[in-house]
Amino acid sequence: MNGQDLRIAVIGATGAVGTVTLDLLSQRGYRRVRALASARSAGSSVTFGDEQLTVEEATPELLAAGEFDLCFFSVGTSTSRELVPHAVEGGATVVDKSDAYRLTDGIPLIVAGVNDDAMAASGVGAGNRIVANPNCSAMQLTCALKPLHDAAGLASVRLSTYQSMSGKGDIGIEELQATPAAGADLGMDWEYDGEEFTEEAKLRAETQKILELPDLKLSATCVRVPVLVGHAQAVWVETESPLAPDEALGVLSESSNLALAELPTPGDAAGRDEVLVARVRRDRADGNGLALWVVNDNLRKGASLNAVQIAESLTSRGLLE
Ligand SMILES: NC(=O)c1ccc[n+]([C@@H]2O[C@H](COP(=O)([O-])OP(=O)(O)OC[C@H]3O[C@@H](n4cnc5c(N)ncnc54)[C@H](OP(=O)(O)O)[C@@H]3O)[C@@H](O)[C@H]2O)c1
Repeated sequence: MNGQDLRIAVIGATGAVGTVTLDLLSQRGYRRVRALASARSAGSSVTFGDEQLTVEEATPELLAAGEFDLCFFSVGTSTSRELVPHAVEGGATVVDKSDAYRLTDGIPLIVAGVNDDAMAASGVGAGNRIVANPNCSAMQLTCALKPLHDAAGLASVRLSTYQSMSGKGDIGIEELQATPAAGADLGMDWEYDGEEFTEEAKLRAETQKILELPDLKLSATCVRVPVLVGHAQAVWVETESPLAPDEALGVLSESSNLALAELPTPGDAAGRDEVLVARVRRDRADGNGLALWVVNDNLRKGASLNAVQIAESLTSRGLLE
């Protein structure tokens, strides 16, 4: 089937990620797209290119009725857990953006352009119809780490993140817009177990799964900052064999997911497809160390663009049943 003829549902179509997913699908010429959300917004409309789509309630019955080939889920974890099995029962292949299935054995966690082969290896196209989309921070990090790992092997990774408010969804956008810039105290929205935020543990476990490096040493400090869109990361990488900054720039420049930049801010990344990489330099505290700065639009490659690229990869590899 031609990808553009797929019968597609965007579940969570009224949210921060769902609205960008609709934009990307319309720009890419998909025609048979329906917008689903909760009963709260059923009957309202969302923009799809030049059209307005009426939002339908995402009921188990509708999802299981066999009306969709592909379902993009952009809802919370518990809603995904409840509704994804019904979509699968109805015969759809699901790309899920929540963390419901990311670390489930047998379900591939995919960054398009990094580990697409894991889909067929996990039986997608042969009975397995769920593909998980990673956390936005793991997404941009693995885009930058994969070429470095292929070139010199990763020994350890340390990073600090500066994550925008839209990473919390529409509620974060509203919270920032309602807060006077001076003196904003927006706080962390992740659970803290006395040692780590959940976000830091997710970032480590998802990176290990995507790169198929279960023992990779990775330590992160994640922070939410009063920025609307765009997550930034200061990353320190220790490689197994030496990799000079020039060589690192060479391998990074070959990745279609990345664009080299000079001093990118989150604003420079917002609306762009590529993950921006900058300031690739020797880490002066480590023999085989490199330091770099990585910035990405968390709503695009960090969420919806990657999901749409997964769909394109499924189509081109003949993995949609
Ligand atoms: N924001 C990011 O940067 C980002 C990045 C990567 C992954 N993600 C993940 O993507 C998912 C969506 O995030 P978001 O930022 O777009 O959140 P959001 O702005 O809060 O949107 C949530 C969406 O879920 C819908 N929804 C809620 N309960 C539902 C239900 N019972 N049935 C059907 N739809 C329901 C909402 O519809 P109503 O309008 O009807 O309430 C809304 O469309 C989350 O799992 C998040 O972790 C987000």
